[in-house]
Amino acid sequence: MRKTIIIASAVVLALGCTENRPDAFVDSLIGKMTLEEKIGQLNQIVTTSGDITGPLEGSLSTYEAIKKGWCGSILGVRNPDEIQRLQHLAVDSSRLGIPILFGHDIIHGCRTIFPENIGISCTWDMEAVKKFARVSATEAAAFGVAWTFSPMCDVCADARWGRVSEGSGEDTYLSARVAEAMVRGYQGEDLRADSTILACVKHFAAYGAPEAGRDYNTVDMSWPMFRDKYLPVYKAAIDAGAGSVMSSFNDFEGIPVTANRKLLHDVLRDSLAFGGFVVSDWNAVKELIRHGVAADEKEAALLAFKAGLNMDMVAGAYLRNLGAFVSEGLISEKDIDAAVRPVLQAKYDLGLFDDPFRYGGKADRMYRQGSLESAREVARKSMVLLTDKAGILPLKESSRIALIGPFADDKKEMVGAWGAMAEPERCVTFLEGLKEEFPHVSYSEGCAPRKEIPGGIADAVSLARRSDVVLLTLGLPSSESGEAASLTSISIPDCQKKLLRAVSATGKPVVILLVTGRPMDLSEEKELSDAILVTWHPGTMAGPALADLISGEFSPSGRLSMSFPENVGQLPIRYNQKRTGRPKPSESTTSKYCSRYVDAPNKPLFVFGSGLSYTDFSYSNLRIENPAVKAGEDVVVKIDVTNTGSVVAEETVQLYVKDDVASRTRPERELKAFEKVLLNAGETSTVELRVKYQDLAFFTARGKWEVESGDFTVFVGHDSDASLSGAFSVLPENR
Ligand code: GLC
Repeated sequence: MRKTIIIASAVVLALGCTENRPDAFVDSLIGKMTLEEKIGQLNQIVTTSGDITGPLEGSLSTYEAIKKGWCGSILGVRNPDEIQRLQHLAVDSSRLGIPILFGHDIIHGCRTIFPENIGISCTWDMEAVKKFARVSATEAAAFGVAWTFSPMCDVCADARWGRVSEGSGEDTYLSARVAEAMVRGYQGEDLRADSTILACVKHFAAYGAPEAGRDYNTVDMSWPMFRDKYLPVYKAAIDAGAGSVMSSFNDFEGIPVTANRKLLHDVLRDSLAFGGFVVSDWNAVKELIRHGVAADEKEAALLAFKAGLNMDMVAGAYLRNLGAFVSEGLISEKDIDAAVRPVLQAKYDLGLFDDPFRYGGKADRMYRQGSLESAREVARKSMVLLTDKAGILPLKESSRIALIGPFADDKKEMVGAWGAMAEPERCVTFLEGLKEEFPHVSYSEGCAPRKEIPGGIADAVSLARRSDVVLLTLGLPSSESGEAASLTSISIPDCQKKLLRAVSATGKPVVILLVTGRPMDLSEEKELSDAILVTWHPGTMAGPALADLISGEFSPSGRLSMSFPENVGQLPIRYNQKRTGRPKPSESTTSKYCSRYVDAPNKPLFVFGSGLSYTDFSYSNLRIENPAVKAGEDVVVKIDVTNTGSVVAEETVQLYVKDDVASRTRPERELKAFEKVLLNAGETSTVELRVKYQDLAFFTARGKWEVESGDFTVFVGHDSDASLSGAFSVLPENR
């Protein structure tokens, strides 16, 4: 280690600048680098255990790439010792000893696994989100990873898309709050600290709107729709200080984002003033050829570079072509310098030049008690109680519980998608967690996720008959969550439906525990069960978190961040649908000529923002402090909320705004504020909600992002169906 620090210091000293001015340091370093070394900083390779894999496999050795300074970043290493070895290789044996930036998809935990991100968003608790990101960053940094490819900022209203598990649901405002909380949790107050890491805003942009919900498919939307519904989430993460952005696989306005200068330069650099660097998604530079916008790799690399992409993830297209572009005069070395600068700046900001080994080698920081408690808290808060018909929950300690189903005692299935660093054996299953709280819990698998088990149903039915209550896990395996996992059916698999029908026929109360990374069609399940609790894939502390709720130690507080449709035919479905000229007046309407389905309601089965507790809440006395809103003034709304039940519980008070008349069609209503409040039984509290003036802005018919004066309606309540309303007006700017 001593030798390494001397070399690193030698780099700094050789640059003749020891003052702490980052740009001076970076500029001096660039002045020392060869063109080849600069291009190397724009190349990211992938290796999990030493040898390069992915598109460059076989064409380049890790040792050669590092020794020659050809890899500014490495993704995918799953062994902390390997990270240290490769870093030593870079610092000790490359000419300038420039440290490598190690990145990975640590998106819902490193070793301590939190619920999949859709579950995290259902907490509506930004302190909890930040707590998750702090634990995730601390463990990632301890592992040696200084850069995570998170937060995923892709709004999506289509549950066919498997990657909804990685995002924060259908709503722009909630997704933006979650994204900024994650960035702040990852990057902390000091990026140089050995427990903070670089965030990456992905997938820029509009990746969550693939046609037909099919991953990687084309995205086609109007510019106003993009500006109003999708861009604000990426902007929130960038405004929170995110140091990197990842370009998405999809095209946008017919140009793949990785070659889309309008997005990567005009929007990202000019409009959003983003100062970090942009990395492509996996092999996305070379995929420009398949998109049909580049004839070959050379053209692809030039398009991406001219669009403003800084770093090529694993394609090797920059490594093989940028040098020739300079010698052919297609780009200048100054262009290369400009692309390298933010990459080196990020390494400087992370403190890698001071100490290339500040990240890694801290195994004792994994699974700390506090981290596990945080994972338990976030998992508990992520779970959403959709129904509880007869108040069957919570269960008495003496209950004879039949825990049935394919996910009830499966450690791997608690992890969910993107658990590269997870150790499933450390997960506490539902069975293990419930046994800690309830003396009489028996288990029967019943069936596998997508296939029957001989005698499984009979065994499950027999157990149900011997029990007081059934907890039945239904849902989808982790393999059907995340990337490349689009489905045309979001129904519960047939074998699981058979199990439910058989268990339900015993007449015993049935509580469904839904293990899933996406909203599902629960229309039959809602009828055949007494309660439904969505657990998502809840992570390392799955069992204790579930037991906390089933025992009544805590009341469920999760609220849906995505609508659960009646059926897949309703998709994409969102609460904030645009207004139309023929709105459906009500679900009971008989009028034919309105925007409706002949064979299904318009409304989802469970609406955005919904979720039950073990108590009820009432709302009253809505008042708007400043009904005549001057330009730039926040709208202050107050409301009284009462816990009308018998147990303490947390409510998420939600405020929606309708722009009564505007220059473009606007949504029926949009979430613009929410506050969580913990209320004891019988307690009433006055809750204040503030609508930021700028949050009333939209992309107007004048082609500007602005607030239009006029009348607005406010709805405040428990979910997106809130009916208690008030009104305010935004005064014209000159008054
Ligand atoms: C994947 C994903 C992206 C991830 C990257 C690196 O294809 O699209 O979210 O960060 O490659 O693993």
